[in-house]
Amino acid sequence: MPSSTPSASGQNSAESRSSQGILVAETVIKIEAGDFELQFKTDESGRLLILSCGAWNSASGPDGWAYPPSGDGWVFEPALSVVHHDGNRSTDLRVEAIEKEGHLTTIHLFDPLYAFFVKLKFQAFPAYGVIEAWTEIQHQEPGEITLEAYASSSLDLGEGSFHLTQFCGDWADEAHVVEEPINRGIKIIDSKLGVRAHQFTAPWILVSNGPAQEESGEVLAGSLWWSGSFKFSVEKLPMNSVRLIAGINPFGSAINLPAGEIFATPKMTWAWSATGTGDLTRNLHRYVRNEVLREGNTERAILLNNWEATYFDFDEAKVISLFDGAKALGMELFLLDDGWFANKHPRSGDHQGLGDWEPNTEKLPNGIGILADVAQKKGLRFGLWFEPEMVNPKSALFEEHPDWVIKQPGRELELQRNQLTLDLSNPDVREFAFKVLDSALKETPGISYIKWDCNRYLTQPGSTYLSKKNQTHLQVDYVHGLYEVMERVKAAHPNVEIMMCSGGGGRVDYAALSFAHEVWPSDMTDPSRRIFIQWGFSYFMPAIATAAHVTKMGERPIKFAFDVAMSGRLGMDVDAEKLTLEEHAFAKKAIQNYKQIREIIQMGDLYRLESPYTGPRASLQLTLNNRSVVFAYATDGAPSQNLSLRALDPEASYQVREINRLDEDRDLGFISGKELLTSGLPIDALGTFGSQVFEVLPY
Ligand code: DGJ
Repeated sequence: MPSSTPSASGQNSAESRSSQGILVAETVIKIEAGDFELQFKTDESGRLLILSCGAWNSASGPDGWAYPPSGDGWVFEPALSVVHHDGNRSTDLRVEAIEKEGHLTTIHLFDPLYAFFVKLKFQAFPAYGVIEAWTEIQHQEPGEITLEAYASSSLDLGEGSFHLTQFCGDWADEAHVVEEPINRGIKIIDSKLGVRAHQFTAPWILVSNGPAQEESGEVLAGSLWWSGSFKFSVEKLPMNSVRLIAGINPFGSAINLPAGEIFATPKMTWAWSATGTGDLTRNLHRYVRNEVLREGNTERAILLNNWEATYFDFDEAKVISLFDGAKALGMELFLLDDGWFANKHPRSGDHQGLGDWEPNTEKLPNGIGILADVAQKKGLRFGLWFEPEMVNPKSALFEEHPDWVIKQPGRELELQRNQLTLDLSNPDVREFAFKVLDSALKETPGISYIKWDCNRYLTQPGSTYLSKKNQTHLQVDYVHGLYEVMERVKAAHPNVEIMMCSGGGGRVDYAALSFAHEVWPSDMTDPSRRIFIQWGFSYFMPAIATAAHVTKMGERPIKFAFDVAMSGRLGMDVDAEKLTLEEHAFAKKAIQNYKQIREIIQMGDLYRLESPYTGPRASLQLTLNNRSVVFAYATDGAPSQNLSLRALDPEASYQVREINRLDEDRDLGFISGKELLTSGLPIDALGTFGSQVFEVLPY
């Protein structure tokens, strides 16, 4: 008899149960999230089937198992794979109860042969057409069991000409939008990197019926809340239905689960639209701003970061001169990046000092506090860079705690960027990582912003803390340990903003974002490449969370660099003293302009108008309360061509101004909404790296 469930809901009547407690009445379960609905059904044997996902009817019969376990009939990729206490490798899941509490639905499943229980959880967000799905796995078997696969969610999409879009790349080359038709067989999009896990692929996918289109067509988005190794499998089964399974990557990560302990899988956010990726994105952006991101409805400051301006080469006087430069340009926040710490092995480059978090006395003889004070006196907020999970072997920390790093016994240590990863499965290491941040923030209350970096992935995943048997827990325990540290930092310092960075976009999932205010998408800041990277990010990340800095990379025209960066959360990585007079004047004006349009950019709805993948010109529009900003960028020479706008009132008249020009703003006068929607906004012929920005305000 099952025993995992709390009181059953009205849908769970005693009469409809078998003698084993299986709910055998055929019941339809609807998870309703506005325009997105998932439907499940219990069949006459008490198994749970998925009936539909959005407008897509799932496979009928056994191919439609909702959360397929391995070993008892299911011969495809499983959502769940369990070795029971007695070595039996099969699991059979039947429905025990269905509970609804507001928008949270819990479907209780159990195995009639074992005291083994799975709860499928669904949290619906009707305002955004979003459903979060995850599971909780538990047992009361007389001994430990092993979970060899433990997905967060599984969906069957039925038959269709489905296409899969992934967002892949590498360091400084993130988020390529790559689409392919889903054919027979299985496609795995995954990461086995453990830490900095998204370096090669973001944990987001789209599945569309036909090629994904911006303004029409059915499309499903999936985004996993997990900063470690993840796995999405997309399998077209012999009967032609398409099965998605999403969750932590169980590769090398079997979980030994003692009786009574709950193993909760991370949330998978699903969103669905029948009207293309544009509406899907706008819904996801609202969801992220309201439900994921910290302070998602508060405008972000304009930031000067010294990284590309100085790299490791700075001292107190230089930093203070950068404050002056930032202030003169109208910026609001200064971030001191890598290189401010370590004395035994000073952090003069990336080869040493990481882990020794005291200010370097040669560069900063008066410490960090004075910098924060001076910044504040000059009217700037102050932020500081940390990489609390990592260590250089050449550091006092490593000399003292060589066993705190992730390594394999007997193997030569493999370094990446001359560094090793600290083992966050170890509570002492977690305490250390928390203290690094907590002490610095307590000591210098003037720090109101931190950049949390993480610059390598795992290649030798072994822990001196975990037992021999539980070595496979390392990757999962690491991420849980990381979240514990992040949660403590957030609770202890609720007013400190966080930029999530991992050598650029190596940690870009919604879980990491839920502890942060924004992500640093890429170390590639050449605007001609950034157009593509920001385009890829824009499917899942709103502009407010997408840090975009003007730098000297690529030596592009400053106007082009600003126009690209201003479509995200604007910042600069430039020494203002090194700007020419013309560049300085332009930067000052552009920053003023950004302040005028910031609310529209950071809180507005995004319309991707022209893709950089399909022509020489890319363009996008951000709209808030009928006020719009339009960006057009030439990735190659682009002829003059009108650009039809979106989301305007055809009856209204709009005042259109081209802003961010090298000379005076250009007034295009009043243009009717109808004309802007149909014949469009006139865009000049643009040479390579040419760009234009327009403000379209209702009259
Ligand atoms: C990688 C980040 O992406 C850069 O922005 C910078 O912070 C460096 N790390 C510092 O080491």
